[in-house]
Amino acid sequence: MRLQLTADRAMTYAQAGQGQPLVWLHGFPLCHEMWQPQISGLSTHYRVLAPDLTGFGGTSGFPGTPSMSQMADDVAAFLTALKITEPVILGGLSMGGYVALAFARQHPTRLKALILADTRAEPDSAEGKANRDKMIAVAKDKGGEAVIEQMLPKLLGPVAAKERPDLAASMRRMAVGQSREGIANAVQAMRDRPDSAPGLAHIKLPTLVLVGSDDQITPLAASQSMAQAIPGAKLVTIPQAGHMSNQEQPDAFNTAVREFLQGLK
Ligand code: MLT
Repeated sequence: MRLQLTADRAMTYAQAGQGQPLVWLHGFPLCHEMWQPQISGLSTHYRVLAPDLTGFGGTSGFPGTPSMSQMADDVAAFLTALKITEPVILGGLSMGGYVALAFARQHPTRLKALILADTRAEPDSAEGKANRDKMIAVAKDKGGEAVIEQMLPKLLGPVAAKERPDLAASMRRMAVGQSREGIANAVQAMRDRPDSAPGLAHIKLPTLVLVGSDDQITPLAASQSMAQAIPGAKLVTIPQAGHMSNQEQPDAFNTAVREFLQGLK
């Protein structure tokens, strides 16, 4: 589906179900389609929304320096354009989690609860930033296919890497569908993202932290420290899953989300 944010900027998204809005923000270099298991599995009880983040899918890029802050503002503009004024449950995986943390800082009153999956609060290390610079060059020169080929060995856990070739194929398809500029801008925004760790203690929302037991990109330790720092946060480890825990073990992921949401007032 497609929605005008302003006269010259649009956002594409998927939506299913009715009731309490549950919004999912995708990882890099993917799009809303990565949330298919949650769109089908959770829309029985929730209004599930999965937008394409700034510069991904059919969502317009943004003139100027890209940032997580601006991507979060686009999510707020998306809710406004849909006339959603009630607080939403916001979930993000990896890059989507960085955007969700920025959203929680910038628009806390629009949130009812937060789900942080396979993500981290800390900024990139110096080595990580240098790798981002190389990735920006790869994205600009060769596009999404080259980027996803570099990432794939770390995206899936050993079980999915062996048993779910369809997941690698669908991630390739999503990455190939993204523009070089959108990918490069997102890498720059991730490289320059601020440290979200000091703000964790101030998050006053029910928070669920999810992580695949075999996540190599944002490992268990990053989720443990994030969950410890957010008052009252609950940590659930998804067994036999890597970085793409929502797709690798959709039943366990959806069960953890459902149990968390059932506990909300
Ligand atoms: C993602 O899955 O969104 C990315 O791996 C995040 C990152 O590179 O930091």
